[in-house]
Amino acid sequence: MKVLVTGGLGFIGSHTVVELQNKGFEVVIIDDLSNSSEKVLDGIVAITGKKPLFEKIDLKEKSKVEDFFKRHTDVQGVIHFAASKAVGESVEKPLLYYENNIGTLVYLLKELSKKDKASFIFSSSCTVYGQADKMPITEDAPVKTAESPYGNTKQMGEEIISDTCKVVPSLNAIALRYFNPMGAHPSTEIGELPIGVPQNLVPFITQTGMGLRDQLSVFGDDYPTSDGTCVRDYIHVVDLAKAHVLALQRLFEAKNKANYEVFNLGTGKGSTVLEVIKSFEKVSGKKLNYKIVPRRSGDITEAYANTEKANNELGWKAESTLDEAMKSAWDWEQKVRA
Ligand SMILES: NC(=O)c1ccc[n+]([C@@H]2O[C@H](COP(=O)([O-])OP(=O)(O)OC[C@H]3O[C@@H](n4cnc5c(N)ncnc54)[C@H](O)[C@@H]3O)[C@@H](O)[C@H]2O)c1
Repeated sequence: MKVLVTGGLGFIGSHTVVELQNKGFEVVIIDDLSNSSEKVLDGIVAITGKKPLFEKIDLKEKSKVEDFFKRHTDVQGVIHFAASKAVGESVEKPLLYYENNIGTLVYLLKELSKKDKASFIFSSSCTVYGQADKMPITEDAPVKTAESPYGNTKQMGEEIISDTCKVVPSLNAIALRYFNPMGAHPSTEIGELPIGVPQNLVPFITQTGMGLRDQLSVFGDDYPTSDGTCVRDYIHVVDLAKAHVLALQRLFEAKNKANYEVFNLGTGKGSTVLEVIKSFEKVSGKKLNYKIVPRRSGDITEAYANTEKANNELGWKAESTLDEAMKSAWDWEQKVRA
């Protein structure tokens, strides 16, 4: 089974390539290296003993996407990670986000629509729920108006796939709504490598722990939560990666109940920012330099997943605890800076 993984040298993509290769899939990666490095391939080889095919292609170049599928007619499934993902940047450069996250999706779906049979997995996000009315969040919670162009690309992306599946019965797709991915492979061969100032809490914490950043700002301690800080659902990237393999197998084995399905991927447990900091202090034995600052606009109070659908339908459950995920993130950070 040959699987195309777009963005396969990125954070979640690289961990998914490892799990796919561990299960015997043949993987071909497309990545333009805009937010990753070719060195990630070495990490994948070190873990799996196998080098995936890699093609440096910018998916915004439609003719190159067409050419790729002409050369790789045996690709049966696509996991589409490639996208731009910085919320703040998307507000500054909306067209870049619409072009990179929507244009590329359309080109891929056009190619897959030409095939007799195709399976497609899409990286979506819990951001589509905004501040959900009820916790934990189920898949049928209403999609709220997006707070940013980035969030909008995930909502629009889901709609584009759903509309396409309605008229292309040979296409089967699953959108996976990730909560908050974190951590690294336990081998420390691959992990998260943010370019510039990290946008996510965990790499900011580990970089502060290493002394690369002076201080972590905790935005607000007056939210209606157990300690006043925001609650999120942190999921180990290896658990997340395994869910992609199961989702793809569900489509390959025709176990899906509709040709477009949506699943939440989280642990089902919410953690506050202060709990995440405590976890870091516990696994690293270091005190973290942080300060409480006023709330940041656009932050929601809490978001954590109801994972029953993924548990029951995909046969998947997140296994790692927050401390285990944090330890892997910290081990990785120390290795990268060594
Ligand atoms: N990391 C998170 O917190 C999170 C949460 C929810 C959803 N997601 C989604 O998951 C996916 C993967 O996220 P990630 O954290 O691994 O990001 P990442 O930036 O580490 O990986 C994305 C990869 O795609 C590549 N890429 C981007 N544009 C491309 C293009 N035009 N052509 C070819 N390659 C291109 C980048 O070089 C990078 O290697 C994204 O779609 C993201 O929106 C991520």
